[in-house]
Amino acid sequence: MNLPQSVGEPMGPALAGPVLLVSDLSKCYGGPVVLRNLSFAAFSGVSLAIIGANGSGKSTLLKCLIRLTDPSSGKIDILGQSVGDMGASALRQFRSRVGVVWQKHNLVPRLSALSNVLHGVQARLSGPRSWWQWAAPAEVRAEAMACLDRVGLADKALQRVDSLSGGQQQRVAIARMLMQRPELVLADEPDASLDPQSGEDVMRLLSDLARQDGLTLIVISHRLEHTLAFSDRIIGLAGGVIALDVATDQADPIMLRRFFDKPTQ
Ligand SMILES: Nc1ncnc2c1ncn2[C@@H]1O[C@H](COP(=O)(O)OP(=O)(O)O)[C@@H](O)[C@H]1O
Ligand SMILES: [Mg+2]
Repeated sequence: MNLPQSVGEPMGPALAGPVLLVSDLSKCYGGPVVLRNLSFAAFSGVSLAIIGANGSGKSTLLKCLIRLTDPSSGKIDILGQSVGDMGASALRQFRSRVGVVWQKHNLVPRLSALSNVLHGVQARLSGPRSWWQWAAPAEVRAEAMACLDRVGLADKALQRVDSLSGGQQQRVAIARMLMQRPELVLADEPDASLDPQSGEDVMRLLSDLARQDGLTLIVISHRLEHTLAFSDRIIGLAGGVIALDVATDQADPIMLRRFFDKPTQ
């Protein structure tokens, strides 16, 4: 295995092994190879940005990590488990430990913010009482309110999500993800559908929450300035391989530009 030097690796006795270890990962959907022999590790509490031009395989990589798509070859270990070896029930349980924020949040528009956040608990506890906010057990409801409070939306708890702004809706989706009590957070362009200010607010919120909870965050952003502001380490994909692996504070913004698409005029 050709494991690159891992920037952001904790020093000293805290070294307890990586939260995530990708070894020789390749993915091909049937056409050209999308990912070719990727190897990298991510350590506890580190915010790792994945960058690359449109179509470079960023989303494919994230999907491989939680097996929304099967890698063609290679091995992925996350939170001490081998992702490729899991059966259906182990995979379900594993996914409940990983919070994911997508560009499109898939909230239920006609339900309240609080009801949507409660749905996050279904990863841990199932049953109809976690569907509607009024039916949920008091302690679960209180936890959902606390999650909404953490994203600054406690005052919108009973409002239908389709009456909220795009940025507020994404924050509800983040609160729903927190309700899972995730041990690792993956975010695929959570800022992409939002206006510049809301996008930045969402990225800062995710980064702050991950830092407060000591969580590892793997985040894709199509914006160079967000990548620089909200990551500790950057991996750049180009031509199916890791073309860059650098600590963010050592990164040269001019050199990073080639990993981003030019904005359309
Ligand atoms: N489900 C799929 N079936 C076939 N090809 C796919 C599929 N998903 C993505 N691809 C292809 O894989 C490449 C990488 O896509 P993607 O991972 O979405 O890139 P990115 O997120 O960096 O824009 C693209 O060429 C895309 O067309
Ligand atoms: Mg993508």
